[in-house]
Amino acid sequence: MLKIKKINNFNLTDKKVLVRLDLNIPFIKGKVLDDTRIKSAIPTIKEIIKKKGIPIVISHFGRPKGKRNKKFSLKKIINPLSKILRTKILFCNQCIGLDVKKILKKVKPKQIVLLENLRFHNEELKNDLKFAKKLSEYCDIYINDAFSVSHRLHSSVNKITQCLPSGIGKNMEKEIINLNKFLKKPKKPFTAIVGGAKMQNKINLINALIKKCDYLILGGGVANTFLKSNNINIGKSIFEKKQIKNALAIQKKALIYKCKIILPVDAAISKKKRSVNIYKINKNNNILDLGKESVFQIINIINKSKTIIWSGPLGYFEKKPYNYATNEIANAINSKKKIISVVGGGDTIAALKKNKKIKNFSFLSTGGGAFLNWIEKLTLPGIEILKKN
Ligand code: 3PG
Repeated sequence: MLKIKKINNFNLTDKKVLVRLDLNIPFIKGKVLDDTRIKSAIPTIKEIIKKKGIPIVISHFGRPKGKRNKKFSLKKIINPLSKILRTKILFCNQCIGLDVKKILKKVKPKQIVLLENLRFHNEELKNDLKFAKKLSEYCDIYINDAFSVSHRLHSSVNKITQCLPSGIGKNMEKEIINLNKFLKKPKKPFTAIVGGAKMQNKINLINALIKKCDYLILGGGVANTFLKSNNINIGKSIFEKKQIKNALAIQKKALIYKCKIILPVDAAISKKKRSVNIYKINKNNNILDLGKESVFQIINIINKSKTIIWSGPLGYFEKKPYNYATNEIANAINSKKKIISVVGGGDTIAALKKNKKIKNFSFLSTGGGAFLNWIEKLTLPGIEILKKN
């Protein structure tokens, strides 16, 4: 399938394997909110241990802007990581240098080394080759198992591949196989659901989707910006003024590509007012979710679709009852076993997992920004670089 080396293609015995994971997971009040990314690392770590190699895990956490900052230390991942992987973690509070060397002398078979946040070093963000060399100094093989960060041109994803024999881990392989299988040539009618608060993050995705989709369903802050661009009063609801021009251009382009953009026809503005006609929103109202008529229309489209991709919750899903549209639509997709359904983005997956009815979804990607980038270009820079290794 790929010209890329997979973890199974390497002799791992007695080898120190530098594994790039994405341990950038959401915490609330010190508790892990969603451990999907840790769980997705299990097969690769197990494979290394089974083949008698030593996993040396590297990751980023948050955006500490190239400076050491306690708040962003990977120390807080030790416990959840050790519980999920059921093994001892040796933590090093550096990711390069002699401290790493010292820890590697202590590590025993079946143990894992976790190095401190890569983004404490600005060189990581600058894709610096010297930094990549330092990272690779005590290791024999590099494995990228972090699909969700492979859209970034960072040292631990890109330049590192010039320093060590490199390949992909099991999670990365699963992402590539599934996204290719379901979305390279999607079965039509092809419907995309795009929500979330910010349109700015989704503009490239939406531009790519209108060329491929039959229906583009919009919700959340993204839909508000489109409504506003059509001179519809959205009251106090969130929207992005800077994106109004883009929203208008996209609607024109969609006509050329015969992609039907579906905007809300009603909205929830309070616990009692759950389905206010979109033309009756007044200046004091705040759109918090799609209304019942909009959900009904969307479910009709879902029923005639063969492929669905979804990125971004459709309302203020963290707060009941404004999770209504997201849940109803998830349930409708889940009940259609023959539909191909692919979801990406941390928020969307967290919202759907709360609802629990997701077992029939075809694939949940671990990628947020990476998922959006993949849909746009059908690959990622971090994958392409491995083809050259
Ligand atoms: C993510 O959460 O999408 C990845 O960890 C990438 O994080 P970043 O957007 O800070 O690069």
